[in-house]
Amino acid sequence: MLNFTTLPPLSLYIHYPWCVRKCPYCDFNSHAAPSSANKIINDQQRDEHYVSALIRDLEQELPSIWGRSIHSIFIGGGTPSLIQPEALHHLLSQINALLKISPMAEITMEANPGTVDQMKFTEFHAAGINRLSMGIQSFDDQLLQKIGRIHTSQQARQAIERAQLAGFDNINLDLMYALPGQTLESAIDDIQQAIVFETTHLSHYQLTLEPNTLFASQPPRLPDDDISYEMQIQSQHLLADAGFDHYEVSAYAKADKQCRHNLNYWQFGDYLGIGAGAHGKISDAAQQTITRRWKVKHPQDYMGLCSLSADGSLSADGSLSADGSTKIKTSSMLAGEQQLSRHDIGFEFMLNASRLTGGFDSELFYRQTGLAITQIESGLKKAVELELIEWHLHHIKPTQRGLQYLNELQAIFL
Ligand SMILES: C[S@@+](CC[C@H](N)C(=O)[O-])C[C@H]1O[C@@H](n2cnc3c(N)ncnc32)[C@H](O)[C@@H]1O
Ligand code: SF4
Repeated sequence: MLNFTTLPPLSLYIHYPWCVRKCPYCDFNSHAAPSSANKIINDQQRDEHYVSALIRDLEQELPSIWGRSIHSIFIGGGTPSLIQPEALHHLLSQINALLKISPMAEITMEANPGTVDQMKFTEFHAAGINRLSMGIQSFDDQLLQKIGRIHTSQQARQAIERAQLAGFDNINLDLMYALPGQTLESAIDDIQQAIVFETTHLSHYQLTLEPNTLFASQPPRLPDDDISYEMQIQSQHLLADAGFDHYEVSAYAKADKQCRHNLNYWQFGDYLGIGAGAHGKISDAAQQTITRRWKVKHPQDYMGLCSLSADGSLSADGSLSADGSTKIKTSSMLAGEQQLSRHDIGFEFMLNASRLTGGFDSELFYRQTGLAITQIESGLKKAVELELIEWHLHHIKPTQRGLQYLNELQAIFL
């Protein structure tokens, strides 16, 4: 039995599954949008249909979070910046009508520089997006080509400037390092160029070859481990000098600009997940349970659960709507759910919290899991012996070695 006295903070994740084309390294649930020649419906209709499905999905989730307020929203993908601004407006206004959104909520959208112009940024800002996460990856045109990006470095620079001009003052830049054929100088140059824009956040990911990607079947030549490590260490120094706090394995933020949404994941908070393949994690004080839920993965199957008729209205198969003209399909978007065991909870907490460079208090473990720290005590003691964590009184923190061998550290709790 868990023992929740209060429930963790609650976030909302919204998945948008389309991209212009699929990048060869990417294993996200993202799909190339049909080219204009092969389109059965246009982009506007597709987005309207998808937003209708998202709203249905959210309505189905409401009973699990009655009365709770949302402290952050993250629209990820895929490439959510492809969404038509009208559809985004509709989505955010429906969310506001259905949920209690905290007035200070962080509302982030991921953006690919090859999909945005000045007008779109202005419209996204007006719709209520107050934080952007931009997929820059590198400022080196040859590398951008090698990793199959749809934009040049010039477009990436322009996109950052246009976003700032549109009023966005809270921007994350995603950079990847250890790219095919990348030199140490080039990786450092990417960081130096990113710093110039004075954005509030930077995510710095080492390129990984993920199963079921083009890069996994045709692996490019990557820098060796020593060079990759040097890229990481030198980048950390440059970012620290520029005023960025390294608060999570791959995340750097200016003062008070940590990504509140991601921080909630790493601190084992609760989140609703809506959209194709989206995952959620919800604690229940009455039942004293933590449940994971995930949605139908393929966008077509997901949208098929909420079909649109030819005139764009929601089509028939369930109950009649109020005016009797349209019927709304009511099939569940849920693909599965699982109640977490005490052991799962301990492991999943550590899987997330061990990523935080500053560590966490044992009080956080109790608050977010409803369990005493003794649940993971044997794992913590083993990790201390292996010098992967430090444990002083009520504070637990990964060592430099723990951060470097994070998989080994996390495996202790499996
Ligand atoms: C959903 S994408 C961001 C938005 C948009 N789709 C884009 O790519 O511009 C999330 C980020 O994950 C990172 N990423 C994706 N696949 C990766 C991989 N195999 N290795 C390291 N980082 C990866 C990239 O930096 C990417 O910007
Ligand atoms: S644009 Fe982003 S989500 Fe889409 S395939 Fe490329 S990395 Fe993946």
